[in-house]
Amino acid sequence: MWDGKQLNQFTKETFGDRPLIVVSNREPYIHSKSDGIINWSRGGGGLTAVLDSAMAAMGGTWVAWGSGNADWEVTDKSSTVAVPPNNPSYLLKRVSLTPEEVEHYYYGFSNRFFWPLFHQFTERVLFLEKDWLCYKNVNSHFANAVLAEVKDKESPVIWIQDYHLACVPLNLRKHKPDASIALFWHIPWPPYDFFKIAPCRQELLESLLCCDLLGFQTDLDRDNFLEAVEKELMVPVHFSSHTVTYHGHTTLAKVCAASIDASAWMKIASAPGIEEKVLKVRQNLHLPSSGFFGIGVDRLEYTKGIIERFSAIDIFLTRYPQFREKFTFLQIASPSRTAMLEYQEYGRKVEHAADLINAKYRANGWKPIEYCPFHVESETLAVYYRAADLAIVSPFADGMNLVAKEFAAAQIDEIGVLLLSKFAGAAHEMPGAVLVDPCDLEEFAEEIKRALDMAPSAKKAAMQNMRAYLAINNVYKWVKDLLLPLSHQSQIPQCQQGSAPLLQSPSGPPLLP
Ligand code: F6P
Repeated sequence: MWDGKQLNQFTKETFGDRPLIVVSNREPYIHSKSDGIINWSRGGGGLTAVLDSAMAAMGGTWVAWGSGNADWEVTDKSSTVAVPPNNPSYLLKRVSLTPEEVEHYYYGFSNRFFWPLFHQFTERVLFLEKDWLCYKNVNSHFANAVLAEVKDKESPVIWIQDYHLACVPLNLRKHKPDASIALFWHIPWPPYDFFKIAPCRQELLESLLCCDLLGFQTDLDRDNFLEAVEKELMVPVHFSSHTVTYHGHTTLAKVCAASIDASAWMKIASAPGIEEKVLKVRQNLHLPSSGFFGIGVDRLEYTKGIIERFSAIDIFLTRYPQFREKFTFLQIASPSRTAMLEYQEYGRKVEHAADLINAKYRANGWKPIEYCPFHVESETLAVYYRAADLAIVSPFADGMNLVAKEFAAAQIDEIGVLLLSKFAGAAHEMPGAVLVDPCDLEEFAEEIKRALDMAPSAKKAAMQNMRAYLAINNVYKWVKDLLLPLSHQSQIPQCQQGSAPLLQSPSGPPLLP
């Protein structure tokens, strides 16, 4: 089983002295000041949490947007600070963005264009030329920050994260041709009929094809990407080796599902005193000892299907009144992109939906939905995960969904059931999860009933399967599997003779340094 030590060893053996740079929009640690005191907190989102474990093991430099109000008070003259703040093991280099850049690059292009389009919410997609120009400009700031780190170094390994930074590879390849460049696409890649809506589609693909390696969560995401390349750029795609050669440079598209530090979750979930806290949670919900506790943990986000999940619970309680006063669902919804009106409006709708259902069924101090629109730290989440008989993860579209994995890892007693949307990337990987279609609400309600009625032995067997899978397929193995093709020894399959790209550039960068 892979752990931090092995990943550290792998990095040394595989990359030797080559510098390792990770690039993401969100930073793993934020410094903020209140009452003259500087404190630090962890950056939001699953991506930063899992990458932090990997970076702590590998070392290197992480380049990210410095979004805290005291971020610049703790950095040196190259905008860098050692992190984790309580046990430094790698460097965080911050990129400064103006409020206008945040508006157009982050809220505008990343969240009003990329996010809805790639999750197939086309009615929410907004493409504005100004956002796109700003996005490209901000991507070049990120690239410059990386280049400043690697300009005198040979063959750096640069690993970019996600849709915020799709134009970084082009900037890097131009100025640092000997770099090995990877980008992991954390969100879904939609079918071509959706992708073709993007006015900037050709530029996006051309930048992504400056990578040596593109990582995807599922086969479907990778195949959708390759199909987009074939149809848009009209170059031959090698579907068997999953490679494309464009302007003389070959890119490997590789599926490698993101994962969590499962052993860290097991540890938090077995902390001393946690059993008492679990009991207390159940008592506070006014549930009888034979009652059931369900949980949902999401960013407050329209792709997550929170309102429809409540509707399924409503149908379930109507059809099976014997569960009234015996089933409570805790929905934790951590605030996200709160400066955007559409997210504020979604938050109001979720709250209203919870209120309506609670008004309908409330009785004797009990209500079916406990709604908690706050961020909850891992230590507390682990208590809820252990207390829960059921977790519902029901997005309409999701690259992976790490909450599904966290819930299973924290199930020390193996008594809970995971209800998982078949549209989440995790559905391809979690043997033993009960798969649901978040659009088919009546069937969804039936699945809730079936999950609660499952025999303890069946629940245990299903949970054991998932936990065994996660113990092996953890974040350390994910990073190792993904980055392996960037080693000097490893060969990304070359384009076969006779199927050379239509556009050849003799001066194109070499595939591998
Ligand atoms: O799912 C990919 C991801 O980058 C997550 O890590 C994160 O939760 C989300 O998308 C982006 O969230 P935010 O806009 O708050 O950074």
